[in-house]
Amino acid sequence: MPAPTTEKKVSNKNLHKAKKSKNDEFYTQLSDIEKELKHYKEHFRDKVIFCNCDDPEESHFWKYFSENFEFLGLKRLIATHYETEKPSYKLEIVADTNGDGRINKLDTIRTPLMQNGDFRSPECIEILEESDIVVTNPPFSLFREYVAQLFEHDRKFIIVGHQNAITYKEIFNLIKENRIWLGYGFSGGAAHFINKYYEDYATAGDHREGMIRVSGVNWFTNLEIQKRHEDLILYKKYSQEEYPKYDNYDAIEVSKTKDIPLDYVGAMGVPVTFMDKYNPDQFEILGCSYVYGEPIGYHIEGKGFNVSISGKEVYKRLFIRNKKLS
Ligand SMILES: C[S@@+](CC[C@H](N)C(=O)[O-])C[C@H]1O[C@@H](n2cnc3c(N)ncnc32)[C@H](O)[C@@H]1O
Repeated sequence: MPAPTTEKKVSNKNLHKAKKSKNDEFYTQLSDIEKELKHYKEHFRDKVIFCNCDDPEESHFWKYFSENFEFLGLKRLIATHYETEKPSYKLEIVADTNGDGRINKLDTIRTPLMQNGDFRSPECIEILEESDIVVTNPPFSLFREYVAQLFEHDRKFIIVGHQNAITYKEIFNLIKENRIWLGYGFSGGAAHFINKYYEDYATAGDHREGMIRVSGVNWFTNLEIQKRHEDLILYKKYSQEEYPKYDNYDAIEVSKTKDIPLDYVGAMGVPVTFMDKYNPDQFEILGCSYVYGEPIGYHIEGKGFNVSISGKEVYKRLFIRNKKLS
């Protein structure tokens, strides 16, 4: 992979720009993959893993699984490569094909695809159907479609996505119904991706050579992890002064997840970053501050959906309630 020479920082604005220009070429670092996937080890045993948005020759997802094939006890590993306009190929590891007594990347079989490796192509969907767990960092610009396909085919997955996706109409409903949740995440909620086609983003501190820093990225999964069964420790007491009510919802504003009051029974508005601490045994997600996420019974009829306090708009919110108090 050609190494860019400067370090860049991507703000949400620039990420949006990147999306628009179809620049989805962010490559996940091996260290980030290792940090997340170590929590799913028991899920991988005897499973077929599919990395369907990966150039296997460059992807660290492929590297991780091919090098740990035996350690994880995989049944089969497949990765497909995407080409915009020509037929592509897949790489696969199934058995000790070279007879050296071990199953690893030396046993890789390369097979041409008839189509271009698009995750939506019939050929890739066929492989998807044969797989147990999909693990990759799909293009941010196709995230909705990508997740919809996983649910359509009822697959397990561990994928990278932006936290903004939490409030996408299609994704929010899945979040609310506890059919998708966040994984362990990247350090400090930001990831450094290897980026080969970067644009002229503003530079700032916290840079790494050949990397692009994207804030607000996370792992999305539907595999059980210990983290989502850990209670968030609450320490603050509710007071009217500290937790004002919204103009348009029967809910209080909690601007920081760590400040969720331990004794408030009703609905609370929290930032989307709450999802990182969400334990479905502790909290219920009631809705979000969009028309499609209306927290039934808590939105004041006839008023708008963007949260506001004394006429001043607040950034988007999720509405939750503490299940242990009622
Ligand atoms: C964000 S990058 C991540 C690459 C790799 N998964 C990783 O994390 O290092 C997304 C990848 O998806 C590929 N891609 C874009 N559109 C695709 C499609 N329709 N089907 C399959 N892959 C696609 C891009 O070429 C790019 O390599």
